[in-house]
Amino acid sequence: MKIACLLASPRKKANSSFLARRICEKAAAKGAETKYFQLNSLKYAGCQACMACKTGSEKCVIQDDLADVLDAVAEADVLLMASPVYFGDVNAQLKGFIDRTFSYLVPDFYFADNKSRLVPDKKLIMVLTQGHEDSSSFADIFPRYEFFFSWYGYTKQVLVRGTGLLDEEDVAVKKEVLAEADRAAEEIF
Ligand SMILES: Cc1cc2nc3c(=O)[nH]c(=O)nc-3n(C[C@H](O)[C@H](O)[C@H](O)COP(=O)(O)O)c2cc1C
Repeated sequence: MKIACLLASPRKKANSSFLARRICEKAAAKGAETKYFQLNSLKYAGCQACMACKTGSEKCVIQDDLADVLDAVAEADVLLMASPVYFGDVNAQLKGFIDRTFSYLVPDFYFADNKSRLVPDKKLIMVLTQGHEDSSSFADIFPRYEFFFSWYGYTKQVLVRGTGLLDEEDVAVKKEVLAEADRAAEEIF
């Protein structure tokens, strides 16, 4: 099983990356291979709405560092997206990637039953960490992206959330969150 793991935090010792790596390590123990991408160290543009991917090209035509990421995600069985919550959403590094996944949609996606160019039945894990302790804050983020990623054929999607995490690797001592990450790994791999 192949995993594409996107680490969106700019921090070296990020809470979201800590959880993502823990999940991928559990998966590795079961034979899965992970390609990690530190999004913050890559140079890429947001979607340019050029529609080239709907009018002739099967892929995004922008030639920047995200081209390899988009290919790896398309090849992988599992996509793991790990992001801090910034202003009530995923951070800009991850949102830039998500907008470029527009290229995974077929030209007539709006009306097509099968909207996706990707091989079906992929799995997705989303890791979100936030400063707010209250888990009802920002609970809307995952369902919004879950809706769109179901278009791409991610039939199984799991969320791992860490709340009340302010400093780097605060999560390392949060037993409940670590257990949630382990359960997600168990469920997906
Ligand atoms: C620019 C910025 C915006 C943030 N916005 C929010 C927010 O809207 N809600 C929240 O709970 N925490 C917010 N935080 C705190 C982070 O989400 C939190 O510290 C998170 O655990 C960091 O994850 P990381 O260690 O993986 O980078 C913000 C932090 C920064 C730097």
